[in-house]
This record gives sequence, structure tokens and C-alpha cells, in this order.
Amino acid sequence: MLASGVLSAGFLSLATLVRAGTVTYNWNATWVWASPDGFARPVIGINGQWPCPLLNATLNDTVIVNFSNNLVNETSGLHFHGLNQLGTEDMDGPTGVTQCPVPPGSTIQYRFTVPNAGSYWYHSHDLGQYPDGLRGPLVVHDPNDPYIGQYDEEIILGVSDCIELGRQMLTPTNTHFAPPFPDALLINDGKGADINFVKGKTYRIRMICYSALSSAFIHFEKHVMNVIMTDASYIQEQEADMLRIAPAQRYDFLLTAGDNDSGNYPFLISLDTNRDYTNASLGVSFPHNYTGYLVMDNSKRLDNTLTVSKWEPYDDSKFKGKDGAGPLSPRNELVELDFKFCFDKNGDPRSCLNGLTYLTQPVPTLYTATTTGENNTNPLIYGQVNPAIVNYGDVVQIVLNNYDEALHPFHLHGHQFQVLDRPLSGAGKWSGQDINYSSEPLSRDTVTVYANSYVVIRFKATNPGVWLFHCHIEWHVEMGLTATIIEAPDHLRGFTFPDEFLNICKLQNIPYEGNAAGNTDNYTDTSGFVTLAPKQYNG
Ligand SMILES: *[C@@H]1O[C@H](CO)[C@@H](O)[C@H](O)[C@H]1NC(C)=O
Ligand SMILES: *[C@@H]1O[C@H](CO)[C@@H](O)[C@H](O)[C@H]1NC(C)=O
Ligand SMILES: *[C@@H]1O[C@H](CO)[C@@H](O)[C@H](O)[C@H]1NC(C)=O
Ligand SMILES: *[C@@H]1O[C@H](CO)[C@@H](O)[C@H](O)[C@H]1NC(C)=O
Ligand SMILES: *[C@@H]1O[C@H](CO)[C@@H](O)[C@H](O)[C@H]1NC(C)=O
Ligand SMILES: *[C@@H]1O[C@H](CO)[C@@H](O)[C@H](O)[C@H]1NC(C)=O
Ligand SMILES: *[C@@H]1O[C@H](CO)[C@@H](O)[C@H](O)[C@H]1NC(C)=O
Ligand SMILES: *[C@@H]1O[C@H](CO)[C@@H](O)[C@H](O)[C@H]1NC(C)=O
Ligand SMILES: *[C@@H]1O[C@H](CO)[C@@H](O)[C@H](O)[C@H]1NC(C)=O
Ligand SMILES: *[C@@H]1O[C@H](CO)[C@@H](O)[C@H](O)[C@H]1NC(C)=O
Ligand SMILES: *[C@@H]1O[C@H](CO)[C@@H](O)[C@H](O)[C@H]1NC(C)=O
Repeated sequence: MLASGVLSAGFLSLATLVRAGTVTYNWNATWVWASPDGFARPVIGINGQWPCPLLNATLNDTVIVNFSNNLVNETSGLHFHGLNQLGTEDMDGPTGVTQCPVPPGSTIQYRFTVPNAGSYWYHSHDLGQYPDGLRGPLVVHDPNDPYIGQYDEEIILGVSDCIELGRQMLTPTNTHFAPPFPDALLINDGKGADINFVKGKTYRIRMICYSALSSAFIHFEKHVMNVIMTDASYIQEQEADMLRIAPAQRYDFLLTAGDNDSGNYPFLISLDTNRDYTNASLGVSFPHNYTGYLVMDNSKRLDNTLTVSKWEPYDDSKFKGKDGAGPLSPRNELVELDFKFCFDKNGDPRSCLNGLTYLTQPVPTLYTATTTGENNTNPLIYGQVNPAIVNYGDVVQIVLNNYDEALHPFHLHGHQFQVLDRPLSGAGKWSGQDINYSSEPLSRDTVTVYANSYVVIRFKATNPGVWLFHCHIEWHVEMGLTATIIEAPDHLRGFTFPDEFLNICKLQNIPYEGNAAGNTDNYTDTSGFVTLAPKQYNG
């Protein structure tokens, strides 16, 4: 799978030896049969294997992924979740946004550098496809990692729900906006995760949530987690007895086998399929559990179980950033979004931000931004993708007001943003006033917004590109729970794309310049814009 991990010769820079390696992966996506939960079904594998392989790189490496779509019956693509893609905004991967879908039989090459270490993942950002298998861990190692020497081994702990999305729920009869529910909980995509635990050793666990819907709780018997990273941002070390990880989030934590340890210690992971686990009046249950073990003594049986009387995770908005930086300021731009479920003209259930559902347009939004000259600052030319135009260098504040009774994990592409305010359920909408935020806010790329509550986040707009802001419950992406940040449009004019990226558009007759509908004469001519979601059912 790892075609080569070539460490090319370093080069001299101001008398300092800078390492500049390249890792190359040749990945061929095909359907393979797998039965991670005991029931065989076709899933999307890479090079004939599923689970999909680790993408492993070192800080500052150039990563090359030659991606071939051999699915035959579906388009595809890859998104590298959490990587900022500074200067390579065309490599982010969501189809209809930064590229055309890769049709069956085509190969494209993703190429980017990785200037920030951490735990990430990659996944298809096409057709709601990652719950069908196309996802895997992505780790960027730092030779000067602040924790080097403090841990002996690192372990990837992937958690996921097992769901077949289907499309039948996007019908008018689904008046309660019900999502498809999982059949099972998968640990490392079915491989499980018993950890060989040796006295005196410390383990760095890289926990990654690949879920389509459900978050997961974790708790270790008699061992506290020392959390060091939220997504791919370092935090000040924080002990936690329980954590809740939402779809697309990551936690790096250290776990130590103490001198007084002996025997085997269970750990419990519970899927959170509840709408709001903090709201007893909605009913709370945990139908899918996994018990794994910290194994010190192989001769002893692994059958002691662990229960938790109540899941009370560490409040992840309280982590503190390690860089000691205060909130980005002054705030230059405010993007306030009200999320409610809604129905469209066909009576189909959708998700709305400020009354509008996201609709994929014919032209990928980045291609519109790069080919419309001075007009690319006009939100009208992008169509109904809920665009927000922000200027280079500005401090942008996004406020998401959640009017729903469930928790939603929101992800911003292109940034590790600061989380300034994230109250628990029932706080209502944002007051409209900034308060004195934490002087050491954490950063991350995916944040859980609680029920009937809101979140305030900030980032600095120094990464020109077109970046989605969306709920990472894959079903809600299908329903249009997405906004589009058009960042520094004046820096995007004239950006050139690799030929193979344009060729896959041409092959499928997808326009790749002009406004949202491919109009190149009159950018404000909205004819051909998509204004209603295609029906997903007959009738
Ligand atoms: C990575 O690149 C940055 C910026 O060029 C440099 O400061 C840093 O030392 C590099 N780190 C490694 C491990 O090469
Ligand atoms: C991908 O796999 C298919 C099926 O095994 C094979 O026919 C095809 O040649 C492979 N393509 C590449 C680029 O490796
Ligand atoms: C990942 O890369 C690092 C170096 O950056 C190396 O030490 C490690 O062994 C690699 N891990 C795997 C599983 O290939
Ligand atoms: C993958 O990319 C490398 C680097 O550009 C190239 O040399 C190689 O031929 C590519 N492999 C395939 C199978 O396309
Ligand atoms: C494509 O084929 C796979 C494997 O047979 C199947 O599971 C999947 O549902 C098909 N996709 C569509 C859109 O029909
Ligand atoms: C080991 O000792 C520490 C400190 O007294 C205690 O907190 C911990 O629970 C002990 N571990 C076990 C497995 O008893
Ligand atoms: C899963 O674990 C939780 C916490 O211990 C418990 O409340 C729940 O009943 C368990 N579920 C099942 C199906 O055993
Ligand atoms: C922007 O659009 C307007 C109206 O279509 C047009 O008059 C103008 O020339 C366009 N500007 C550029 C730079 O294309
Ligand atoms: C809890 O759920 C009930 C519906 O059963 C709802 O009325 C209430 O607002 C919710 N509480 C919070 C804090 O969201
Ligand atoms: C915020 O901090 C400023 C400066 O320390 C202080 O004057 C002000 O009263 C604080 N406001 C609130 C709402 O706490
Ligand atoms: C561009 O299209 C808009 C909408 O159809 C129309 O109002 C406007 O007059 C057109 N501009 C030009 C220069 O044709």
C-alpha cells in the first residue's frame, strides 16, 4: 500500500539543514466485500484492501496521492480532513466545491505539503460516500514533537458507526427529519483495539472518529487520559476521565501503565446515538458498546466488563490552547448562521442556514471564484451555496445558532479555528455581544454545537480558497447543512489548475469556468443555477 516513503535529499537553507521528503501513494479505489459488523456487504477499499491504509507523513513532506477511481458505477474523490491546504486550495477535495468528481476509469494526482503535525483522516467528499468505506487515518509526525520522549508507542484508535445511508429518507413522508440509524459500532473498522500495555510505558493514542452520525464516549478503568491535542491543535495537558468524540473529531491523549498496575484493564466505548445525551426528557440510551482491554497479562482472561453509570465527558470547550495566544482580534467580519430544518418546494426535508439549503451548482465553486475576475466578490454569482465572502487578513467570526433539539458537529475546511464560546444545551441563540472570551482558547477543526444553543468561533482569513463550513453528520450534508466561505477572492483570480483536474470536468461535460452555471459572458445571469434539490425518489 505504501508505494514508497522516499526521504529525498535535504537542501541547505540559511545554513540550516531542512528536511524535505516526499511520500507517494498509488491508490486504486474499488468495491471489495467486507463484513466489519458480521454482515457482508460491498465497501469501498483501496488497492483491494479494506480497512483503507494509513497515510503517514512527516512535517513539511510533500504528499502525492495518485488516486484512481475504479468503482465503475460511482464517481469519487478524496478530502484530507483538517489539513489547511495553504497555497493548494485546489487539493481540498470536496466535489462541486474545489474539483469535479473523479469519474470511473480516471486518475488524478493530489499533491500538497503538510506544514502542521497532528492526527487527521482522509475520506471521500462525494456522494455521501465515506460511510461506504472510503476513509482512513492520516498522521503527520513532527521530529521535534513537544511530547517526543514522553511516550513509547503510538496507537491509532478509529471509532465509527456502521450505517448504510440509502436515500429513501429524503422524502416528504419524513416529516421528523429522521436520519438513518447505525447497526453497529466499529473499532478500527472492525479490527478491534486491545492495547498491549507494558508496565512503565506511555502510549500516545490517536483517537479518530469516522462516524456518519454518532459520537462516541470513551472511559478507561483506573486510567485517566492525559489529553494533548484537539483535532490537530496542541492544547495544554488536561486530564480527562471520560471524553466524547464527535464525527470527524480527533483526540490525542497519553495513557501510562503505572508501576502499581497489574492484570488487564477494560475500556468502554459507547456510541452516542442520542439526539441530546444531556436531555433526559428526550430519553437516553446506549445500544452499541465496545469493551477493549489494556492487556498486561495475556495469561489472564479478558472478560471483566466496565459500566458507566452516567456519561459525563470533560467539557471540550474548556481545553486551553498550548500556544498561549488570546482570541484573534479585532474582529473584522461576522458570519451569523441560524440552523433549522426546513422543507423545499417539493416538500422534501432539507436543512437550512438562514432559511436557505445548500445546493451543489454545476460549476465547482472554486472554479467560479478563480475565473470571474473582479466579479468574484459578488455572492450572487455563486448560486445557492450559502456563500460568505471574507477579505484577506480579516479576523472572521462565525456564529452558528442551533435551533434543533439535537447536537451537531460543525467542521470548517481550511482552518484550525479558535473555539471562543460553546455553551451547553438550552443557552438559546447568541446574544449578539462578544463577551470576555477565554484568554487561552483552544483551536480545532470540528466543534460540537449543543441543542438549542450556539457556538462562536474565529479564524484569520490568510488562507485564500473556497472552504466549506458544514455539519459532519453525513446525512445532514446530503440535506444541505452547508455554507461556503469564499476566502480572499482577490487572491484567487487566475489560479491555475493541473490539467488532469480540468480534464475530468471535460470528460463529464461539467463547466469549469464562469458563474455557478458556467455563464462566462454575464456573471450575474443566473439562468441555469440550481435552485431546487433533485428528487431522490420516484414521483
Ligand atoms: C518545517 O518547515 C518550517 C518552515 O519552513 C521550518 O521552520 C521547520 O523547521 C520545518 N520542520 C521540519 C521538521 O523540517
Ligand atoms: C485498479 O484495480 C482494477 C481492478 O483490480 C484494475 O483493473 C486496474 O488496472 C487498477 N488500476 C490501477 C491504476 O492500478
Ligand atoms: C510513519 O512515519 C514515521 C516517520 O515519519 C515512522 O517513524 C513510522 O514508523 C511510520 N509509521 C508507519 C506505520 O508506517
Ligand atoms: C504517481 O505520481 C508520481 C509522482 O508524480 C509519478 O512518478 C507516478 O508515475 C505516478 N504513478 C501513477 C501510477 O500514476
Ligand atoms: C455500485 O456497486 C456497488 C457494488 O456492487 C453497490 O454496493 C452500490 O450500491 C452501487 N452504487 C450504485 C449507485 O448503484
Ligand atoms: C496506582 O496508584 C495511583 C496513585 O496512587 C492511583 O491513582 C491509581 O489508581 C493506581 N492504579 C491502580 C491500577 O490501582
Ligand atoms: C452500554 O454502556 C452504557 C454505559 O455503561 C450502559 O448504560 C448501556 O446499557 C450499555 N448498553 C448495552 C446495550 O449494553
Ligand atoms: C463584472 O460584471 C459586470 C456585470 O456583468 C460587468 O459589467 C463587468 O465588466 C464585470 N467585470 C469584470 C472584471 O469582469
Ligand atoms: C429537552 O427536550 C425537550 C423536548 O422533550 C425540549 O422541550 C427542551 O427544550 C430540551 N431541553 C434543552 C435544554 O434543550
Ligand atoms: C471584560 O474585561 C474588561 C477588561 O478586563 C472589563 O473591564 C469588563 O468588565 C469585562 N466584561 C465582562 C462582561 O466581564
Ligand atoms: C446580465 O444578466 C442579468 C440577469 O439576467 C441582466 O439583468 C443584465 O442586464 C445582464 N447584463 C448584461 C450586460 O447583459
